[in-house]
Amino acid sequence: MQTFATISALRSFLAPHRASGHTIGFVPTMGALHEGHLSLVRRAVADCDIAVVSIFVNPTQFGPTEDLARYPRDLEGDSRLCASAGAHARFAPEPREIYPEGFCTWVEQNDATARCLEGEHRPTHFRGVLTVCLKFFNIVQPNRAYFGQKDFQQALLVRRMARQLDLPTEVVTCPIIREADGLAMSSRNRYLDPAARKQAASLSRGLEKARAALAAGERSAAALTALIRAELLAAGPCEIDYIAIADPDTLAPVETVDRSAVALLAVRIATTRLIDNLLLTPPQP
Ligand code: PAJ
Repeated sequence: MQTFATISALRSFLAPHRASGHTIGFVPTMGALHEGHLSLVRRAVADCDIAVVSIFVNPTQFGPTEDLARYPRDLEGDSRLCASAGAHARFAPEPREIYPEGFCTWVEQNDATARCLEGEHRPTHFRGVLTVCLKFFNIVQPNRAYFGQKDFQQALLVRRMARQLDLPTEVVTCPIIREADGLAMSSRNRYLDPAARKQAASLSRGLEKARAALAAGERSAAALTALIRAELLAAGPCEIDYIAIADPDTLAPVETVDRSAVALLAVRIATTRLIDNLLLTPPQP
């Protein structure tokens, strides 16, 4: 695996591959890699001739009171993991390489789909995500870019950006990888102390309870949401940012789950904010 820190060096590496018609797969990450990230890398390696992984803790997607300074960083460990998953190139630029002095061009989506849920609780977050993703797409020019369903709203907005801005990149969404007790893998899980780590399994447990209730005939979104809330609160003290049952294409709230929907939640346990989601399919009559 080759490692790059500058845009020009990565472009020089990729140009001959593109010229020979090799397909390029791209996995953007903020590092502190775990099996969730590596599942995307393996998918890119399986699907494409060349797999590029970026590791960049993107400052513009963190709010002023968020965890940018303490976000876990382990470039050497991450590089080993990328190589073992079969990646061909690892791109880890410094912030100045991506945001030179005077940077002032942003990608924003200004509708309810972008402003709800994470957009409501982290108002500048998606502007930072979409801007860095567009920059990386322009640098790498991938045929396909791989995102996790873990960040459901992010994958949706990036796919919309690619479509609306006529990018030639296909945005592929991959399943959520979970720990044995159901907790969705996340770089932020390492902030959890043992008690909080145990409590954090309540997110996926709540989502699974909603799925089971739907299978048993409950279609009221309010009732499903109440089940999830009860599971979260039973596990211990937590601050719930949102629990939502939404249309999977627009994220508009759903009242009755009579077609596919997605349950999404964001919860703070101690000092750690966790998100998770689960697709809900009502039983066929
Ligand atoms: P990061 O949180 O590092 O996640 C990178 C990618 O890994 C995202 O597409 C995310 O959805 C996916 N991922 C994380 N946990 C996962 C899990 N348990 N199962 C499957 N996929 C998982 O998301 C970001 O970084 C940033 O916003 C980024 C897109 C890199 C832009 O800065």
